[in-house]
Amino acid sequence: MPARTLLLFGATGDLARRMLLPSLFGLDADGLLHEGLAIVGTARHAIGDDGFRESAATAVEPILADRKLDGAVLERFLARLSYVPADASDLASFAALGEALRDRIDGGIAIFLSTAPSLFGSTIAGLEQAGLAGPKTRLALEKPLGQDLASSREINDAVARVFPEDRTFRIDHYLGKETVQNLLAMRFGNVLFEPLWNASGIEHVQITISETVGLEGRTGYFDGMGSLRDMVQNHMLQLLALVAMEAPAQFSANAVRDEKVKVLRSLRPLDAARESVIGQYTAGAVAGQPVPGYLDELGVHSDTETFVALKAHVDNWRWHGVPFYLRTGKRLPVRRSEIIVQFRAVPHSMFSGRGAALRPNRLVIGIQPEENIGLTIMAKQPGLDRQGIRLREVPLDIGMANAFADVRRRIAYERLLIDLIEGESTLFVRRDEVEAQWHWIDAIRSGWDEAGMRPKAYAAGTWGPAAAIALTERDGVSWND
Ligand code: BG6
Repeated sequence: MPARTLLLFGATGDLARRMLLPSLFGLDADGLLHEGLAIVGTARHAIGDDGFRESAATAVEPILADRKLDGAVLERFLARLSYVPADASDLASFAALGEALRDRIDGGIAIFLSTAPSLFGSTIAGLEQAGLAGPKTRLALEKPLGQDLASSREINDAVARVFPEDRTFRIDHYLGKETVQNLLAMRFGNVLFEPLWNASGIEHVQITISETVGLEGRTGYFDGMGSLRDMVQNHMLQLLALVAMEAPAQFSANAVRDEKVKVLRSLRPLDAARESVIGQYTAGAVAGQPVPGYLDELGVHSDTETFVALKAHVDNWRWHGVPFYLRTGKRLPVRRSEIIVQFRAVPHSMFSGRGAALRPNRLVIGIQPEENIGLTIMAKQPGLDRQGIRLREVPLDIGMANAFADVRRRIAYERLLIDLIEGESTLFVRRDEVEAQWHWIDAIRSGWDEAGMRPKAYAAGTWGPAAAIALTERDGVSWND
């Protein structure tokens, strides 16, 4: 049963303004929010219904203009909104919230916590006390869910005391991205790839999430956290799990998550000194613009890494001996998220005596900025070949934007919010997955401490420290830059 109410904590915050309200508006404009759905915002400030509607109208303005929607669509959306102030650090303030929502409880409430994790505990206690944690209520939580296994367990325990696992929706917004889901369609909707999708057919896998942005004023959160915990622990390990998992029997929450967690538990503990590289950006230039270094932005000394590259292994039969190279960083030359699957070479080339070199096939799954799937294959260059056969690598490209030109691309949160409202949890992360992720990440951080590793400098606008290149080159592999 879809929830009749969406209750947004942190309704005046950055995520609500940038992502949540625009996503809800996009869904509403397409007629995808059911008529009775009320959206109740809450935060500390007493801005009232009108204040909330005003800030929502500003947040959705670009979509209104971009899609040339008429004012009636906006009016209909704003009419769904109301606002009740609540202060997570003051339990008494939840009474008013409980009172305001009393009549809506039976219709089901989906709660979205987009607040600092330090407020999760008190918010959950407040919800319980106000009678807003009953069997018809589900709870979605935004990262960071802790900073290590111990603190993530504390948060998960606090949630579990009130919300059972099947009503807990942990968000990893990468799972809401279209191409990430397309990875499943590609792997399990085609007969072509699966027979080769193992150590016999695949030589290595690369996953890159490169960003051009720097700290963006998020000092309080990012410094001390670093790229390993900000990006690898969640987004990158989810991508790795989707690439490496066995075929689930159904596209259902438990079937998919059961397979992912097996992969996450099979991650081999990393030899931190040999198999990881960390970096921190110094001043440089991105897209031709000079940008300051991390420490200049921060104003104090810090050993937080803004870049990390890892060589991971999934210790099971399917992936025996296949490295998974992962890298992510801030202030890199381009914004790009992609997965590269490098197939093995043919066992014998009949063309070698005729002067033609073969290059092994490579599958490139572009997640952003462009969504595309490309497969490189060898083809003969046209001609009479009097001087030997000439073969060339040519791409078979599926640009999703062209293949599905008439379908609007959605923000990841549109998908996640509608799934939350409808109670569909396949694209949310289960507790055992999060804990397996932290377990592996914590061991890497201990390895860094033991090895006394500090981030190496790299100039903003470059692909990280030189050691990151050496990490793959010594295996004869190059990053796909
Ligand atoms: C967030 C991280 O989870 O993902 C940010 O906290 C990062 O540091 C962001 O910038 C990247 O998301 P996207 O969708 O822009 O790739």
